[in-house]
Amino acid sequence: MDSFSRPELFDFHGVSMIPIFTENWENIQNFQARPDDVLIASYPKAGSTWLCHITDLLYFRQTSPEREKSLQLHLRVPHLESSFVVPGTGPPPKRFNGTEMVNNLKNSPRLIRTHLPIQFLPKSFLEQNCKIIYISRNAKDSVVSYFHYERMTILNPEPGDWSSYLQRFMDEKMVFGSWYDHVTGWWKKKQTHSQLHYMFYEDLIEDTGLEINKLCHFLGLSPSVEEKERIMNQVHFEEMKMNKMVNHSSVRIMNVNISPFMRKGKVGDWKNHFTMAQNEEFDEVYEKKMKDPTLQFCTEL
Ligand code: A3P
Repeated sequence: MDSFSRPELFDFHGVSMIPIFTENWENIQNFQARPDDVLIASYPKAGSTWLCHITDLLYFRQTSPEREKSLQLHLRVPHLESSFVVPGTGPPPKRFNGTEMVNNLKNSPRLIRTHLPIQFLPKSFLEQNCKIIYISRNAKDSVVSYFHYERMTILNPEPGDWSSYLQRFMDEKMVFGSWYDHVTGWWKKKQTHSQLHYMFYEDLIEDTGLEINKLCHFLGLSPSVEEKERIMNQVHFEEMKMNKMVNHSSVRIMNVNISPFMRKGKVGDWKNHFTMAQNEEFDEVYEKKMKDPTLQFCTEL
């Protein structure tokens, strides 16, 4: 593991990427979705682990109670575009290949996770009219969360110091590219694809029950009141932080001693990171880049 060096960003069709998300490109683009697949999409750090866990429990908690106890979340809801050899494993080295993992899933529906911007979405998801859930989070909390995440995972580029990191975010040079383009691109797609449910992390924090109700409505699920209560208890931040099947504490590539994956789970933590000057500059850049008045984020509750 010591000899492993962090990747560098490179330009991939106009989006900053790293090789672990592009190496398997042909298989990603040719991926054959099934009509009942459910895709969970987001820009990194928007709360997709939370949403994957909720969705997985909604579908399978009752029918396959062993599933959540025996399988790590990333095996239950594979990350489509991931493809890498786990550093420090082997021989033979442990491999991750998202498309293969999805194709090997035995459950139905298959739940699939992605961070791809809309223009990279494999065609078959739209052709098959799959249900897609997109979760979005305000830019300020997203960049803070991303910074701490990149500190703790060696698969991502070296984050450097906070102020240069923030600058890089504003310059749209992040893994999976521009936050601004990502959240806007998927928002636009929602206008034409009725099978796209667009959610906000902040809403999920503010009223988890209501957001789960809306999600169930979209997915065509109707859990009993008791079942919903049970799920709500299981997906609390503190619960998930303690749960080894979702908290990434045993994932080799992440060092939760540097920063836990389940870090704060709050709206507004950016205030503990942004200086006043950084906040002003960020707001100026934000105004220039975010032109669609119908897409509004909340940065504090
Ligand atoms: P913070 O770093 O701000 O704490 P993703 O899963 O998309 O990588 O997003 C990770 C972010 O979601 C982290 O944010 C993490 O703490 C937060 N998160 C995960 N589970 C959560 C939960 N149950 N409640 C609130 N936030 C949660």
